[in-house]
Amino acid sequence: MKKEIINFRKALEKDLDQQRFEHSLGVEYTSACLAIVYGADITDARVAGLLHDCAKCIPHSDQIRIMEKAGLPPLQEEYDDQSLLHAKCGAIIARDKYGIEDENILNAIRFHTVGRPNMTLLEKIVYIADFLEPNRKDLEIMDGVRHAAFIDLDQTLLWIMEGVISYVKKKGMVPAPSGLAAYEYYKNQIKVDEALRNWRKD
Ligand SMILES: [Fe+2]
Ligand SMILES: [Fe+2]
Repeated sequence: MKKEIINFRKALEKDLDQQRFEHSLGVEYTSACLAIVYGADITDARVAGLLHDCAKCIPHSDQIRIMEKAGLPPLQEEYDDQSLLHAKCGAIIARDKYGIEDENILNAIRFHTVGRPNMTLLEKIVYIADFLEPNRKDLEIMDGVRHAAFIDLDQTLLWIMEGVISYVKKKGMVPAPSGLAAYEYYKNQIKVDEALRNWRKD
């Protein structure tokens, strides 16, 4: 599959706008770095990271149609916030257009927006890489999260989920129930490492 990455990139560049394509490359190499640190398959991480947003530039109405046709119609929360559609739709495109058969890669694409309870290592890696890849806007927690990601993956996952949910609430929106379920699951599992959270870049 390593050789196919070049072809995936060429095809993806046509499917995405420039900014989204650059972001996808950022998620590819950040996923690879995290895979090296945590012992995941590097090629799988690159492929999942590269393709995670492959459906992002398809109009929402077409994404809904693709999902219905594949027998995976959107959940209510995906109708309510249609920016979430591209995750599950992306897994379908990755399978049907890019020929990805590996369920672990497809699930890393499928769950990259809101996560889920009991995520696999690859799912966590892509979720986290999507948030902190170097092209991302520097949010307040970004330095800390980037530092933590290479020290403790689960602490980082919880921190990002918490940050995303509070951001959504601050904007007056309701967090997706799946995202809340994932957050509750990890909140009950992980005791926050305050020292890691309080790390500051000098
Ligand atoms: Fe995405
Ligand atoms: Fe993304």
